[in-house]
Amino acid sequence: MKRFVLGLWRWLDERLGWSQTLWPIVAHPVPRNINWWYVFGSATLVAFIMQVVTGVALAFTYVPAPISAYESLQWITHQALLGSVVRGIHYFGASAMVILIVVHMIRTFLMGAYKFPRELNWLTGVLLFVLTLGMAFTGQLLRWNQDAYWAVVVAAEQAARVPLIGHILAYIVFAGPTVGGGTLTRFYATHVFLLPALMFLLIGIHLYLVVRHGISEPPQAGRPVDRATYQRWYQELLHRDGVPFWPEAAWRDLLFAIAVGAGVLVLAIIVGPPDLGRPADPTILQAYPRPDWYFLWYFAVLALIPPQLESWVIVGFPLLVGLVLLLLPFVAPLGERSPIRRPWAVGVVGLALISVAALLHEGIRAPWSPELPTAPLPASVTASLQGSAQQGAVVFQEKGCHNCHTIAGTGGQRGPDLTAIGRRLSRDQLIWRILYGGTNMPAYGANIQPDELAALVDFLMAQGGAVPSAAAR
Ligand code: HEC
Repeated sequence: MKRFVLGLWRWLDERLGWSQTLWPIVAHPVPRNINWWYVFGSATLVAFIMQVVTGVALAFTYVPAPISAYESLQWITHQALLGSVVRGIHYFGASAMVILIVVHMIRTFLMGAYKFPRELNWLTGVLLFVLTLGMAFTGQLLRWNQDAYWAVVVAAEQAARVPLIGHILAYIVFAGPTVGGGTLTRFYATHVFLLPALMFLLIGIHLYLVVRHGISEPPQAGRPVDRATYQRWYQELLHRDGVPFWPEAAWRDLLFAIAVGAGVLVLAIIVGPPDLGRPADPTILQAYPRPDWYFLWYFAVLALIPPQLESWVIVGFPLLVGLVLLLLPFVAPLGERSPIRRPWAVGVVGLALISVAALLHEGIRAPWSPELPTAPLPASVTASLQGSAQQGAVVFQEKGCHNCHTIAGTGGQRGPDLTAIGRRLSRDQLIWRILYGGTNMPAYGANIQPDELAALVDFLMAQGGAVPSAAAR
């Protein structure tokens, strides 16, 4: 048996050349004194692999269409063999990956590991961070439940508000003027093909660079990076005092990765995946949708700042953070690496962590912004209403019509302006439209009471000066 295995190994090695290509990578020398702070990168990779494996498993059963997405996830969660555990791992694994990549970034930042000659390690890492958030964002909608649907509707609302390019942006991201079946298909393709493919590519480059430039040595105060001497000095350090990566350093990575995997598994089994709640329904306005926790803090930001600034901050803030992260290794490629000599770096990280924690706390309670429905109806619209038309105005808000339709200058822009709709459409046409919807308008037939419908139509007939019919009074 042993001879057979050895023989097989030799046969393969002769053809694949592992011992000449892979072994030097596994055994490449690393500084002797690297420590537990160095385990987060490899743990992020392990979390990613965990996501790929469970993601493929989920994709075997998940059906990415509006009529079936929610149902198939319910089936996975409650009926499929181990389905709940697989979904649980995918859910907690996502959280783990976000946390690990952030800790890894903070570690490399505080230890100045992004400095010369490892600038590209940092840049590919920043891109991987952005892609990880993209995975978290697109994955959320795939549940196709009320929270996910309305959270993304709010995001669409926000994207559309971006100055100049907002509507184009919303069209590209959501595959149409509003969140619908097309959005689900687009998010699914992005989540399972586009982003993972980019991540595999970037992880490959990132790892290649880690091997090429070597793992950064733990910084020491008073030992700045100098472009002329650093690389020679580092090579000498490895030569003098290096240890092989496997097993001298890798045992920590292995141990920590196992701990992360075990933690995720235990959470998946004991806590289980999050309850799906109700299926997505465009006709039932969800006033307080909550995104997954990693986006919650950002929505708190939007809720707290003055509304006039919102449109700029929504996309401006992430762009600014991204720009700072991308420019960092070019602005400060040299000099001290030790956090002891870089009080500003430590301060910035501390401040950012405290802010995010406070905002997360706030985000759990904060009202959404832009709030849904977008705005109260202006007095010019409501003042002259009487009787059932007055009730109709309330229905118009409660059913989320205002969220898509503008009246007298307020409201959403996904549907046509209804300011003078009473003059354009007849009572029957209005009823028909509300009951059956349209290409991009939800059908309210199953979700509106006859008296609500009558009141709503009275309200709409009152728009544009048409006098509500005597029968309606
Ligand atoms: C998700 C966004 C959305 C919501 C919510 C919505 N609509 Fe619409 N509505 C549209 C769109 C888009 C159209 C344009 C036609 C189409 O795409 O079917 C439309 C068309 C209409 C029209 C026809 C307008 C015209 O000029 O022909 C009326 C009337 C209307 N909606 C009323 C309502 C009412 C009343 C409600 C609330 C019960 C409502 N809508 C909720 C998106 C929406």
